[in-house]
Amino acid sequence: MPGADQTKRKVTTLNGTAVMIGSPCHCGYERVMGYIISIANQKGGVGKTTTTVNLAASLAAMKKRVLLVDMDPQGNASMGSGIDKHGLEYSSCEVLLGNSTLREAIQPTPEGSFDVLPANADLTAAEVGLMNSPMRERRLGLALAPAKPNYDYILVDCPPSLNMLTLNALVAADGILIPIQTEYYALEGLSALMDTVEQIRAHLNRGLQIEGFLRTMHDPRNNLAVDVSSQLLSHFKDAVFNTVIPRNVRVAEAPSHGIPVLLYDKHSRGATAYLALASELLRRHRLRGAETQLA
Ligand SMILES: Nc1ncnc2c1ncn2[C@@H]1O[C@H](COP(=O)(O)OP(=O)(O)OP(=O)(O)O)[C@@H](O)[C@H]1O
Ligand SMILES: [Mg+2]
Repeated sequence: MPGADQTKRKVTTLNGTAVMIGSPCHCGYERVMGYIISIANQKGGVGKTTTTVNLAASLAAMKKRVLLVDMDPQGNASMGSGIDKHGLEYSSCEVLLGNSTLREAIQPTPEGSFDVLPANADLTAAEVGLMNSPMRERRLGLALAPAKPNYDYILVDCPPSLNMLTLNALVAADGILIPIQTEYYALEGLSALMDTVEQIRAHLNRGLQIEGFLRTMHDPRNNLAVDVSSQLLSHFKDAVFNTVIPRNVRVAEAPSHGIPVLLYDKHSRGATAYLALASELLRRHRLRGAETQLA
């Protein structure tokens, strides 16, 4: 892409390697077409699923066409979007193994604001099945490619592991969004994740961007949380989203009703924060598009 390199900015990772952020996406200035963001962090319980579901709902509220892809056998993103993971006829398992088409497996959420490729425990079997398959790390990308024109954003919820499912998600992705709970040990494991991103960039997906680090479940009254937040900012600079997701009980309650927090309590601090995240993401993408046009 002409001029792409000039618009890249360097950020230093925890282990000292340089990563590039903010290089222009391949999308145009106004319209992002099927831009895939994988929400990943091998650390468990940091807010990956919560972010995927609520960012999907917030982008949909901003009139974006969104597909949520559940790549976690726990199926939490499916359930949190109102899709019962039990007794799915087709799911991401069948799609990855080539036993169903994407179109057969995708379902709209009950209120119809975005689409979901659901998952359940069968996905564990798919991971094993993939081990001996050709193009095993590209299956998700290949499956999603024909659907890209139908969506503005495709958000992929990853499992808490750097396994073949996460690898598929990162090989398919244009960007990785990394939720980080601002607590003790939050930064542990980030070097391994960044190394994985570097490896994927070097060998499997040259275009993989760091979409951003997202501070989640943040409690500003907690000194440790504030410390972790400032460490993140000093290491990753403007790769950290300005938006901070607060710890908010409405966010935690919404999944048990099978709806995003925006539908559960649109005035809650959690709903407002996820809307702000969606706005920030769209603003960043508009800026990148503008940079591309100027370059
Ligand atoms: N902003 C928040 N405020 C309050 N609770 C939250 C918030 N974000 C997430 N939670 C709760 O924290 C728990 C972990 O969140 P979530 O399931 O999104 O993490 P995860 O990274 O997807 O976990 P896993 O690694 O198991 O997939 C859930 O019970 C969720 O409801
Ligand atoms: Mg999860």
